[in-house]
Amino acid sequence: MAPGSGLKTAFFSAKAYDRQSFSAVLGQPQFSGLEMVWLEARLNAETAVLATGCTAVCAFVNDDLSASVVERLHALGVSMLALRSAGFNHVDLATCRRLGLAVARVPAYSPYAVAEHTACLLLTLNRHVHRAWQRVRDLNFSLDGLTGFDVHGKTVGVIGTGRIGTVFARIMTGFGARVLAYDPQPSAEVQSMAGVSLTALEDLIVQSDIISLHCPLTEQTRHLINADRLSRMKPGVILLNTSRGRLVDTKALIQGLKAGRIGGAGLDVYEEEEGIFFADCSESGLQDDVLARLLTFPNVLITSHQAFLTHEALHNIAARTLQSLLEFGAGKISAEAQLV
Ligand code: NAI
Repeated sequence: MAPGSGLKTAFFSAKAYDRQSFSAVLGQPQFSGLEMVWLEARLNAETAVLATGCTAVCAFVNDDLSASVVERLHALGVSMLALRSAGFNHVDLATCRRLGLAVARVPAYSPYAVAEHTACLLLTLNRHVHRAWQRVRDLNFSLDGLTGFDVHGKTVGVIGTGRIGTVFARIMTGFGARVLAYDPQPSAEVQSMAGVSLTALEDLIVQSDIISLHCPLTEQTRHLINADRLSRMKPGVILLNTSRGRLVDTKALIQGLKAGRIGGAGLDVYEEEEGIFFADCSESGLQDDVLARLLTFPNVLITSHQAFLTHEALHNIAARTLQSLLEFGAGKISAEAQLV
């Protein structure tokens, strides 16, 4: 019998690209014992019942794995959560531990995907590519208002120098920028990287022309970027967030943008993105007034949590997640992926 035989997994928030990447890996003989139940629904208290009859649940970043949902899944007989993400701030790990649910994540699938998307947000914003594209399609070939600055020679503050922050710092040094890095536990690579200086957070905040967030969301980092820090940033600073929305106090950011202090914001994540990002709201409209206000600024560029979305990352996510399910079936998840 193949390892993991009969292991049925409820795959929540399934998108076409997930099914494609997971199905390709599932085609390999070692995974033949795994069975996926594809569910378009986002996991929450109402939809948890769809996992009936499944041993495992596969979830993404905007699925709800708070205590009550975990309890509901446990009552249905689910004994493993396979997160197809690196971040796990959306999971109540204490409840999982208490109920004996195993939890695995994908610790690293492509730091390049996220770091390169961050660089893409920076360049698009700074050189106004999003506006230029619209203008030219409108046969407006004027350049007024499209002036940017050279990244070369600027100071880039990188908050969090783990896998993604380290790659982003390297990309920025490639542009000839001076990188200031802050991390309570800086990576070895960043410590020896030419063009990078480790610094205190408050110095990074006041000295940087560009600030990019690459730390996880924890109790300590919630609203790391608040009104006070925004007020001490250099006028015209560009803020980039491809980590987690709640790292930034969005209302304070809006005040900074309205006052003209913030030069631009490139955001792949948003505080209240659950239920909005990944969904098509073009017919229903937006209920979130804060996001709606943010979208009115020409110097704010928002993408819908897509920094991870490359072929390489999707393949690695599928391979690691299915490996964890297989390992769970065989009784031992590898330490690198196991959270509980
Ligand atoms: P990592 O775990 O390799 O690195 C995180 C770093 O942040 C560590 O070096 C840690 O010491 C540091 N850190 C912790 N607390 C800090 C603080 N208070 N201030 C500054 N640094 C602090 O994580 P990785 O893979 O680099 O990912 C970073 C974040 O990117 C994830 O936590 C996740 O939220 C986000 N992410 C976003 C994706 C997207 O599609 N937008 C995809 C993947 C990850």
